[in-house]
Amino acid sequence: MLQAMLFDLQPKTSRRDLYDFDRELEELIKSIELNPLTVVVGIRRSGKTSLLRVALNECGYPYIYIDPRFYSAPTYRDFAYILRNSVEDFLRRYGGVYRRIVEILKNVKGISIDLPTLSVEVSWRRGERMEIGELLIALDNLAKDIKKPIVIAIDEAQELSKITWMPITRLFAYAYDNLRNLRIVLTGSEIGVLFKFLGIEDPSSPLYGRYIHVIKTRRLSREESMDFLEKGFSELGINIPHNIIERAVDELDGIIGWLTLFGYTCYLNPGTCVENIDKILEQAIKIGREELEKFLSTSRSTRYKTLLKILTTERRWSEIKMLLETEESRTINDRTLYEHLKRLIDLSIVEKKNDSYIISDPILRKAAQLL
Ligand SMILES: Nc1ncnc2c1ncn2[C@@H]1O[C@H](COP(=O)(O)OP(=O)(O)OP(=O)(O)O)[C@@H](O)[C@H]1O
Ligand SMILES: [Mg+2]
Repeated sequence: MLQAMLFDLQPKTSRRDLYDFDRELEELIKSIELNPLTVVVGIRRSGKTSLLRVALNECGYPYIYIDPRFYSAPTYRDFAYILRNSVEDFLRRYGGVYRRIVEILKNVKGISIDLPTLSVEVSWRRGERMEIGELLIALDNLAKDIKKPIVIAIDEAQELSKITWMPITRLFAYAYDNLRNLRIVLTGSEIGVLFKFLGIEDPSSPLYGRYIHVIKTRRLSREESMDFLEKGFSELGINIPHNIIERAVDELDGIIGWLTLFGYTCYLNPGTCVENIDKILEQAIKIGREELEKFLSTSRSTRYKTLLKILTTERRWSEIKMLLETEESRTINDRTLYEHLKRLIDLSIVEKKNDSYIISDPILRKAAQLL
């Protein structure tokens, strides 16, 4: 494993290892200071977790980090297990600093803490279950005590939408309105799923109308990508020909996760550097295709599929409309087309360039061709 280097495959946790993204980092830290709810979104492998983890370490507030990636529909027991790890990690980091922390958390129903090992149990038995609301209130009290906000960071938060037995957005709204010492930060790669789950634009959702600060991770420019790879290779003291670096940059499209993986595989075996580009690209396209298929499975009509295929090249409105009408053998009104395109733009799948539309990410364009 590469420790503390640009091509280390683990999400980065310290500012020193975070390439670029200074502006996003400052924005995230500031938003954690100011806003009850912040969301970091971006496509897969674009550096969301790294940005979040570095910001948590830099903001100076105690934080609980939760990674709720469930396999399928999670039960209370699955959730309790994830929370147990998060609370234990929280205690390990701050148990020595703040004496009140153990006292306060111990009093939350369903949580038991063993002293002096600080190992945590979260009960999942009926009747003894922990109430998340109670935990949030306890954390808010703790924050008041230590005179510092506490951050609750949930990575890939769209996963929480799989939980059906707990009104999570209502809890968020309650925290937003009443627990002034908490800051909630969420990340998500399934942007559409996340926003739908949060329901900011849905009057029937508890979070309706609340301000949420949204930060996006972005693709590196060509120059930044070149610089990132060159810095990474020079850190490792290996020499990769300029033309190979250029090719990787052209293919991998500024997505920092794929660039990191490329760098790492070249480090492992410099001889296979060129073939690695193709392999990584294949992997990236596969993930892209899975994401598109997941999105398509949420909509009943097949129109999105047709649209995505049309938008693998840059097209003007009239052209899109004509192609769609030909495909469906009927006329389509402007409003319908507008709504479909808007949805794809909202999901960051499609972008509008002057008067044309196209799938924004070249890797996703290749994936759409395979649908
Ligand atoms: N700013 C950065 N500087 C250096 N390496 C980075 C940076 N951001 C991300 N990476 C690297 O890119 C890879 C993906 O990063 P990370 O896990 O943070 O992205 P992600 O968007 O959370 O991915 P996923 O969608 O799979 O959860 C990791 O190997 C990480 O070390
Ligand atoms: Mg992540």
